[in-house]
Amino acid sequence: MDEYYRYEYEDNGQYCYPHTHVLKNKLNITDQAKLHAAEQELSSARYFEMLRKPIPGDFSLDHLRAIHRYMFQDIYEWAGEIRTVDISKGTIFCLTQFIGQEFKKVQDWLISQNYLKDVTDKREMAKKLAYLIGEINMIHPFREGNGRAQRVYVEYVCKNNGAFDLDFSKTTKNDMILASKESSVLNYRPFELLLEKCLVSTKE
Ligand SMILES: Nc1ncnc2c1ncn2[C@@H]1O[C@H](COP(=O)(O)OP(=O)(O)O)[C@@H](O)[C@H]1O
Ligand SMILES: [Mg+2]
Repeated sequence: MDEYYRYEYEDNGQYCYPHTHVLKNKLNITDQAKLHAAEQELSSARYFEMLRKPIPGDFSLDHLRAIHRYMFQDIYEWAGEIRTVDISKGTIFCLTQFIGQEFKKVQDWLISQNYLKDVTDKREMAKKLAYLIGEINMIHPFREGNGRAQRVYVEYVCKNNGAFDLDFSKTTKNDMILASKESSVLNYRPFELLLEKCLVSTKE
Protein backbone atom coordinates (compact mmCIF):
# COMPACT_ATOMS: atom_id res chain seq x y z
CA MET A 1 0.00 0.00 0.00
CA ASP A 2 1.27 3.44 -0.81
CA GLU A 3 1.40 5.89 2.05
CA TYR A 4 0.16 8.82 0.04
CA TYR A 5 -3.19 7.22 -0.65
CA ARG A 6 -5.99 9.09 1.02
CA TYR A 7 -8.98 7.05 2.06
CA GLU A 8 -12.41 7.89 3.21
CA TYR A 9 -14.16 5.87 5.90
CA GLU A 10 -10.87 4.63 7.34
CA ASP A 11 -12.26 4.78 10.84
CA ASN A 12 -14.89 2.14 10.16
CA GLY A 13 -12.09 -0.39 10.05
CA GLN A 14 -13.41 -2.00 6.92
CA TYR A 15 -10.06 -2.35 5.16
CA CYS A 16 -7.42 -1.47 7.73
CA TYR A 17 -6.56 -2.67 11.22
CA PRO A 18 -7.88 -0.12 13.72
CA HIS A 19 -5.93 3.14 13.88
CA THR A 20 -3.44 2.02 11.20
CA HIS A 21 -3.01 2.19 7.43
CA VAL A 22 -2.20 -1.52 7.28
CA LEU A 23 -4.68 -3.47 5.21
CA LYS A 24 -6.34 -6.39 6.97
CA ASN A 25 -4.96 -9.53 5.39
CA LYS A 26 -5.28 -13.31 5.45
CA LEU A 27 -1.78 -13.63 6.89
CA ASN A 28 -2.67 -11.43 9.89
CA ILE A 29 0.39 -9.28 9.29
CA THR A 30 0.09 -5.93 11.05
CA ASP A 31 3.50 -4.53 10.09
CA GLN A 32 3.34 -2.50 6.87
CA ALA A 33 6.81 -3.41 5.57
CA LYS A 34 6.26 -7.12 6.23
CA LEU A 35 2.87 -7.03 4.53
CA HIS A 36 4.35 -5.23 1.55
CA ALA A 37 7.08 -7.90 1.19
CA ALA A 38 4.63 -10.80 1.56
CA GLU A 39 2.20 -9.19 -0.86
CA GLN A 40 4.92 -8.70 -3.47
CA GLU A 41 6.13 -12.27 -3.16
CA LEU A 42 2.73 -13.96 -3.24
CA SER A 43 1.26 -11.78 -5.99
CA SER A 44 4.30 -12.23 -8.20
CA ALA A 45 4.10 -16.04 -7.85
CA ARG A 46 0.45 -15.84 -8.95
CA TYR A 47 1.42 -13.43 -11.74
CA PHE A 48 3.77 -15.99 -13.29
CA GLU A 49 1.05 -18.63 -13.09
CA MET A 50 -1.32 -16.26 -14.88
CA LEU A 51 1.18 -15.66 -17.65
CA ARG A 52 1.52 -19.39 -18.29
CA LYS A 53 -2.19 -20.03 -18.00
CA PRO A 54 -4.16 -16.86 -18.76
CA ILE A 55 -7.45 -16.18 -16.97
CA PRO A 56 -10.13 -16.44 -19.67
CA GLY A 57 -12.54 -13.56 -20.16
CA ASP A 58 -14.04 -10.92 -22.41
CA PHE A 59 -12.09 -7.86 -21.17
CA SER A 60 -15.05 -6.78 -19.07
CA LEU A 61 -14.83 -5.52 -15.51
CA ASP A 62 -15.60 -9.10 -14.42
CA HIS A 63 -12.53 -10.23 -16.34
CA LEU A 64 -10.34 -7.67 -14.60
CA ARG A 65 -11.91 -8.74 -11.30
CA ALA A 66 -11.04 -12.38 -12.03
CA ILE A 67 -7.43 -11.33 -12.71
CA HIS A 68 -7.29 -9.37 -9.46
CA ARG A 69 -8.95 -12.21 -7.54
CA TYR A 70 -6.42 -14.73 -8.78
CA MET A 71 -3.46 -12.49 -8.13
CA PHE A 72 -4.37 -11.48 -4.56
CA GLN A 73 -6.26 -14.61 -3.45
CA ASP A 74 -3.59 -15.50 -0.87
CA ILE A 75 -3.58 -12.08 0.75
CA TYR A 76 -6.90 -10.26 0.80
CA GLU A 77 -10.44 -11.51 1.50
CA TRP A 78 -11.70 -8.87 -0.91
CA ALA A 79 -9.49 -9.96 -3.83
CA GLY A 80 -11.49 -9.40 -7.01
CA GLU A 81 -14.06 -7.21 -5.27
CA ILE A 82 -14.71 -3.62 -6.30
CA ARG A 83 -13.63 -1.14 -3.61
CA THR A 84 -16.31 0.36 -1.41
CA VAL A 85 -14.37 3.49 -0.48
CA ASP A 86 -13.32 6.48 -2.53
CA ILE A 87 -9.57 6.90 -2.93
CA SER A 88 -7.18 9.46 -4.31
CA LYS A 89 -3.45 9.84 -4.90
CA GLY A 90 -3.35 13.51 -5.70
CA THR A 91 -5.44 12.29 -8.59
CA ILE A 92 -9.00 11.55 -7.51
CA PHE A 93 -10.02 8.19 -8.93
CA CYS A 94 -13.51 7.25 -10.11
CA LEU A 95 -16.16 7.48 -7.39
CA THR A 96 -17.23 4.00 -6.32
CA GLN A 97 -20.79 4.31 -7.60
CA PHE A 98 -19.57 4.99 -11.17
CA ILE A 99 -16.94 2.24 -11.47
CA GLY A 100 -19.22 -0.20 -13.32
CA GLN A 101 -20.50 2.28 -15.88
CA GLU A 102 -17.09 3.87 -16.47
CA PHE A 103 -15.47 0.49 -17.05
CA LYS A 104 -18.25 -0.40 -19.48
CA LYS A 105 -17.25 2.65 -21.55
CA VAL A 106 -13.67 1.39 -21.68
CA GLN A 107 -14.79 -2.10 -22.68
CA ASP A 108 -17.11 -0.64 -25.35
CA TRP A 109 -14.20 1.35 -26.74
CA LEU A 110 -12.09 -1.83 -26.87
CA ILE A 111 -14.92 -3.67 -28.66
CA SER A 112 -15.23 -0.77 -31.13
CA GLN A 113 -11.49 -1.28 -31.81
CA ASN A 114 -12.02 -5.03 -32.35
CA TYR A 115 -10.00 -5.62 -29.15
CA LEU A 116 -6.95 -4.16 -30.99
CA LYS A 117 -6.67 -7.51 -32.77
CA ASP A 118 -6.01 -5.91 -36.16
CA VAL A 119 -3.19 -3.60 -35.07
CA THR A 120 0.13 -4.59 -36.59
CA ASP A 121 2.17 -1.42 -36.10
CA LYS A 122 4.01 -1.13 -32.79
CA ARG A 123 3.58 2.63 -32.50
CA GLU A 124 -0.14 2.40 -33.11
CA MET A 125 -0.42 -0.42 -30.57
CA ALA A 126 1.45 1.69 -28.00
CA LYS A 127 -0.85 4.63 -28.66
CA LYS A 128 -4.03 2.62 -28.20
CA LEU A 129 -2.77 0.72 -25.17
CA ALA A 130 -1.71 4.04 -23.60
CA TYR A 131 -5.26 5.27 -23.82
CA LEU A 132 -6.58 1.93 -22.49
CA ILE A 133 -4.29 1.66 -19.47
CA GLY A 134 -4.68 5.38 -18.69
CA GLU A 135 -8.46 5.05 -18.60
CA ILE A 136 -8.43 1.88 -16.50
CA ASN A 137 -6.00 3.52 -14.10
CA MET A 138 -8.37 6.45 -13.62
CA ILE A 139 -11.10 3.99 -12.63
CA HIS A 140 -8.84 2.20 -10.10
CA PRO A 141 -11.51 -0.41 -9.30
CA PHE A 142 -9.78 -2.01 -6.32
CA ARG A 143 -8.72 -0.86 -2.90
CA GLU A 144 -5.15 -2.00 -3.67
CA GLY A 145 -3.32 -3.84 -6.46
CA ASN A 146 -4.71 -1.80 -9.35
CA GLY A 147 -1.35 -1.34 -11.07
CA ARG A 148 -0.56 -5.05 -11.13
CA ALA A 149 -4.06 -6.13 -12.21
CA GLN A 150 -4.31 -3.58 -15.02
CA ARG A 151 -0.90 -4.55 -16.35
CA VAL A 152 -2.01 -8.19 -16.66
CA TYR A 153 -5.20 -7.05 -18.40
CA VAL A 154 -3.26 -5.13 -21.08
CA GLU A 155 -0.80 -8.00 -21.40
CA TYR A 156 -3.79 -10.19 -22.24
CA VAL A 157 -4.97 -7.64 -24.83
CA CYS A 158 -1.56 -8.07 -26.47
CA LYS A 159 -1.68 -11.87 -26.30
CA ASN A 160 -5.12 -11.73 -27.90
CA ASN A 161 -3.62 -9.67 -30.74
CA GLY A 162 -0.83 -12.21 -31.16
CA ALA A 163 1.70 -9.89 -32.81
CA PHE A 164 3.08 -8.44 -29.56
CA ASP A 165 4.16 -9.36 -26.07
CA LEU A 166 4.23 -6.74 -23.38
CA ASP A 167 7.23 -6.85 -21.09
CA PHE A 168 6.85 -4.37 -18.23
CA SER A 169 10.28 -5.26 -16.87
CA LYS A 170 11.58 -2.92 -19.58
CA THR A 171 10.28 0.08 -17.64
CA THR A 172 10.41 1.30 -14.04
CA LYS A 173 7.87 1.85 -11.30
CA ASN A 174 8.75 5.52 -11.30
CA ASP A 175 8.10 5.90 -15.03
CA MET A 176 4.79 4.06 -14.58
CA ILE A 177 3.73 6.55 -11.92
CA LEU A 178 4.83 9.56 -13.98
CA ALA A 179 2.96 8.27 -17.02
CA SER A 180 -0.10 7.52 -14.88
CA LYS A 181 -0.09 11.06 -13.47
CA GLU A 182 0.14 12.55 -16.96
CA SER A 183 -2.65 10.35 -18.28
CA SER A 184 -4.87 11.67 -15.48
CA VAL A 185 -4.66 15.07 -17.18
CA LEU A 186 -5.29 13.42 -20.56
CA ASN A 187 -1.68 13.51 -21.71
CA TYR A 188 -1.18 9.93 -22.89
CA ARG A 189 2.19 10.58 -24.55
CA PRO A 190 4.42 9.37 -21.66
CA PHE A 191 2.44 6.11 -21.48
CA GLU A 192 2.75 5.78 -25.23
CA LEU A 193 6.55 6.08 -25.10
CA LEU A 194 6.76 3.73 -22.11
CA LEU A 195 4.61 1.11 -23.83
CA GLU A 196 6.56 1.37 -27.05
CA LYS A 197 9.63 0.37 -25.06
CA CYS A 198 7.80 -2.57 -23.49
CA LEU A 199 6.16 -3.93 -26.63
CA VAL A 200 8.03 -6.84 -28.16
CA SER A 201 7.07 -8.13 -31.56
CA THR A 202 6.47 -11.90 -31.40
CA LYS A 203 7.75 -12.16 -34.97
CA GLU A 204 11.12 -10.52 -34.30
N1 LIG B 1 -0.59 10.37 -8.87
C1 LIG B 1 -1.08 9.37 -9.58
N2 LIG B 1 -2.04 9.60 -10.50
C2 LIG B 1 -2.57 8.59 -11.22
N3 LIG B 1 -2.19 7.31 -11.10
C3 LIG B 1 -1.23 7.02 -10.21
C4 LIG B 1 -0.61 8.01 -9.42
N4 LIG B 1 0.32 7.43 -8.64
C5 LIG B 1 0.28 6.10 -8.95
N5 LIG B 1 -0.64 5.84 -9.89
C6 LIG B 1 -1.02 4.54 -10.47
O1 LIG B 1 -1.45 3.70 -9.42
C7 LIG B 1 -0.84 2.43 -9.57
C8 LIG B 1 -0.66 1.79 -8.21
O2 LIG B 1 -1.93 1.43 -7.72
P1 LIG B 1 -2.07 0.33 -6.59
O3 LIG B 1 -3.53 0.11 -6.37
O4 LIG B 1 -1.21 0.67 -5.43
O5 LIG B 1 -1.52 -0.96 -7.34
P2 LIG B 1 -0.11 -1.73 -7.21
O6 LIG B 1 0.17 -1.87 -5.76
O7 LIG B 1 -0.39 -3.03 -7.91
O8 LIG B 1 0.92 -0.92 -7.93
C9 LIG B 1 0.48 2.71 -10.26
O9 LIG B 1 0.89 1.59 -11.02
C10 LIG B 1 0.14 3.85 -11.18
O10 LIG B 1 -0.34 3.33 -12.39
MG1 LIG C 1 0.07 -0.48 -4.26
